[in-house]
Amino acid sequence: MSDFEKALLEKAEEAEKIIQGFLPKEEGYQKLVIEAMNYSILAGGKRIRPVLMMETYRAFGGEDLSVVAPFMAAIEMIHNYSLVHDDLPAMDNDEYRRGRKTTHVVYGPGMATLAGDGLLNLAYETAIKSFLINANLDSYDGDVADRRVKALQILAEKAGIYGMVGGQCADICAEGKSEATLEELLFIHENKTAAMLESSMMIGAILAGADSKAVSEIEKAASKIGIAFQIQDDILDVTGDEKELGKPIGSDEKNEKTTYVSLNGIEASKEEVKKLSDEACDILRMTKKSEEFLIPLVLWMISRNK
Ligand code: IPE
Ligand code: IPE
Ligand code: MG
Ligand code: MG
Ligand code: MG
Repeated sequence: MSDFEKALLEKAEEAEKIIQGFLPKEEGYQKLVIEAMNYSILAGGKRIRPVLMMETYRAFGGEDLSVVAPFMAAIEMIHNYSLVHDDLPAMDNDEYRRGRKTTHVVYGPGMATLAGDGLLNLAYETAIKSFLINANLDSYDGDVADRRVKALQILAEKAGIYGMVGGQCADICAEGKSEATLEELLFIHENKTAAMLESSMMIGAILAGADSKAVSEIEKAASKIGIAFQIQDDILDVTGDEKELGKPIGSDEKNEKTTYVSLNGIEASKEEVKKLSDEACDILRMTKKSEEFLIPLVLWMISRNK
């Protein structure tokens, strides 16, 4: 394991503790749905989104994690709900995720649907907790002066119809469509995947005190990172090792998905991942601190096998 991978593991553990601190107790007549929620979120995962949020926060000089912590948990909850629903028989119909049976296989599709709903709602219940913490945040120079309100708005918008849900819609609509264009594919990647990475990094920057110009640069960088991340996911769906990946390979082909790989082939896809990642790093150099972890993280994401 490289020094960077050790550092990443530590950051992921830091995020893990924060996430777990916001998870509900499995009790009451709603016990089963809570069990299904925890089954999904406690299965591990790279925790890339909360780590990106925390490290962008730090790259912009943030130190005390108390205000950003509820948002870190919230973004991972939204991500997990999107995975539980993405795996449902009515969507990608996949039976493995993070090395274990998917939520609907264990709890049934009805309970898995509710577990996704529960996680999505819990994300907002959790993010709102950041408003209950006494913290003096300077006002934001964008359209909303209150940094926490701005962060909540981004969290909500990037997950919705003008973000992840919109991308998942276009992803389903492009199934089996051999004439899908690169433009459609970029819409899918930008929305189903990049939007959640934009949300993570923008919220980190905003809560650390970044101005609106810096936040919009971060949005651009995160968009490139997100598109590269999904192209890499599509590459691994073809070339990956199922054991290491923890989810089935060949899922995209089975569902006749339009992917960067199906349109342009593996080699061109790899080149695009590298190009987008380099462009993102150029933007991230706007803060010197990003050299410490954020930039190495983006470069690691290119070569990831899981
Ligand atoms: C999988 O996300 C879904 C995509 C958007 C590609 P991750 O690769 O971050 O999945 P986990 O959280 O590590 O399992
Ligand atoms: C899903 O993309 C993106 C989400 C919003 C969940 P994929 O369908 O390619 O993700 P995996 O491969 O199942 O993780
Ligand atoms: Mg999918
Ligand atoms: Mg899928
Ligand atoms: Mg995939």
